[in-house]
Amino acid sequence: MSKVSLIRLSLLGFLVIAVVTPSANATRKSVVLGGEADIPNVQTNIEIQELGRYCVEQFNLMEESEQGNAESIADTAVLNPLNFSRVVSAQKQVVAGLKYDLRIEVIQPDGTSRMFDSVVIIQPWLHSKKLLGFTPVATPVY
Ligand SMILES: *[C@@H]1O[C@H](CO)[C@@H](O)[C@H](O)[C@H]1NC(C)=O
Repeated sequence: MSKVSLIRLSLLGFLVIAVVTPSANATRKSVVLGGEADIPNVQTNIEIQELGRYCVEQFNLMEESEQGNAESIADTAVLNPLNFSRVVSAQKQVVAGLKYDLRIEVIQPDGTSRMFDSVVIIQPWLHSKKLLGFTPVATPVY
């Protein structure tokens, strides 16, 4: 990393601190660079809803290909296949690509709904989309 970009980074860091310090926690997420930013209006965001659907499909595929295998991306047993219902909330973070944290509602085979926290990374330049996590929410907060 060059000296100039280092200086720029520390300057940015300083600015971020300066901006964040006087305000409360509520605005923190939308200000910090490289931090997680809440995505507004998730319910009507087609891109995010489709991303949620993708997560559920990937999870179902992984479960299918791991039959008889104790290892699972979810740490507790989950009935499947799960039917995507909707993404209820989402955060976005710039990493080596874009990282999304989605809270997804699914319909289980028995018809009951359940919440999952899902992590997906998109690297457009590699045409890559990867599901990193899909975990049942113990006590869903709506
Ligand atoms: C899940 O989706 C499939 C295909 O759309 C449908 O046939 C099935 O009834 C759904 N299951 C539940 C529990 O909603």
